Amino acid sequence: MQTENNCIVIFGASGDLTHRKLIPALYNLYKIGRLSEHFSVLGVARTDMTDDIFREKMRAALIEHEKAEGETLENFCSHLYYQSVNTSDAADYVKLLPRLDDLHDTYQTAGNTLYYLSTPPSLYGVIPECLAAHGLNTEEYGWKRLIVEKPFGYDIKTAKALDVQIHRFFEEHQIYRIDHYLGKETVQNLLVLRFSNGLFEPLWSRNFIDYVEITGAEALGVEQRGGYYDGSGAMRDMFQNHLLQVLAMVAMEPPAIINADSMRDEVAKVLHCLHPLSEEDLQHNLVLGQYIAAEIDGKQVNGYLQETGVPADSNTETYMALRCEIDNWRWAGVPFYVRTGKRLPTRVTEVVIHFKTTPHPVFSQNAPENKLIIRIQPDEGISMRFGLKKPGAGFEAKEVSMDFRYSDLSSAANLMTAYERLLLDAMKGDATLFSRTDAVHACWKFVQPILDYKTANGRVYEYEAGTWGPTEADKLIAREGRVWRKPSGMMKKKV
Ligand code: BG6
Repeated sequence: MQTENNCIVIFGASGDLTHRKLIPALYNLYKIGRLSEHFSVLGVARTDMTDDIFREKMRAALIEHEKAEGETLENFCSHLYYQSVNTSDAADYVKLLPRLDDLHDTYQTAGNTLYYLSTPPSLYGVIPECLAAHGLNTEEYGWKRLIVEKPFGYDIKTAKALDVQIHRFFEEHQIYRIDHYLGKETVQNLLVLRFSNGLFEPLWSRNFIDYVEITGAEALGVEQRGGYYDGSGAMRDMFQNHLLQVLAMVAMEPPAIINADSMRDEVAKVLHCLHPLSEEDLQHNLVLGQYIAAEIDGKQVNGYLQETGVPADSNTETYMALRCEIDNWRWAGVPFYVRTGKRLPTRVTEVVIHFKTTPHPVFSQNAPENKLIIRIQPDEGISMRFGLKKPGAGFEAKEVSMDFRYSDLSSAANLMTAYERLLLDAMKGDATLFSRTDAVHACWKFVQPILDYKTANGRVYEYEAGTWGPTEADKLIAREGRVWRKPSGMMKKKV
């Protein structure tokens, strides 16, 4: 089904995200026929640029990132426009009025407009107010939706203040807080795996699950984003949003139906059940780290403190590991170990469900563990590990695996990227995969004591680039007789 005719206004159009993610996503949606022919994109930023220069830049990015070419590329680019606006000056938004009138007429959009805030966060509260000053928020003439990029606030106080600011001009049903992890096919698949099979759900609780591991590892360092990252750190950059969303997908109750309200009710409910962490809990259950220079594959890589834009005495964490629990009937007492970091040995995001062992070890002292590995990226798929008889004499059990890879599906080539899926959903008015205000607050409520603890105690351990984080993180999990899984770049070969 195609989207309704609409105009997409991207604020921050001269920035990185626009040419790296947003325009490629829109191009791909156009290419597969999911965008109405009557769409237009109006890029907005301070920089002076003509429509033609903007088109040229986007064309170059599409050729580079998407190998775009030919008629499709040219047709797509003809829908792109640009308007320079001083985005912090309400008066200057008057320039948008004739541009938008024109685009709505030309493309018969009936006034439908999607605003995308891809600007520095300091403008997230300002732009809605400036739009409202010119009546560009009202839905008398077509729908008006606002996509807000992360970070949604810097802590609980600023997140609440931002919410109040935006809600003065846009209603909750118009606001789409984007968390690109929710756009990932395999994060959504967690729900399908859990709720469309009778097999897993009965086991999905403290009765059968021993513990859960969630890993968001990245091999890259902070690259050119040191300036941004230093004010953020792993906790705000990955944990507060992406990983807590993944945790919610693993732990939430089944929604009655899949729609924006019932899904997001369940997400918010489980996030509210996260056990609040006291200072004493954090002393034992939190490890922060920062990577130091090392040689990886014969190449010397910088430590975090040597990265561009990072102050030489920075105490920002590039790694964090946390043991947390969920206080509800389903999960009471089950530890969730969550870790994320930059400059780890490989890029991998996965969830590992470790099932309890048999009550009595009949075959060997070291019976293989039963676990379900849900690989979110790369090599998207699911691997079930269990024990079978080792061929030969005796009764020795060995771990084998049963694997499913997304790439084996014939339709795998049609996997949408996260931004494609989320932009499409926003244009369709489906907010299921966007964070609702109560869930965002629940995440901040849980994270705030961790931020405060870090400010007060500040202990950040060093780890060498290319390793699995500080050894203290191993101790954290070893205390309960466990070890972190060391995922490799690939899932095991099929048995
Ligand atoms: C972004 C963070 O939100 O997510 C980055 O700002 C991080 O620091 C990225 O690298 C990870 O996303 P993905 O999709 O590559 O796992």
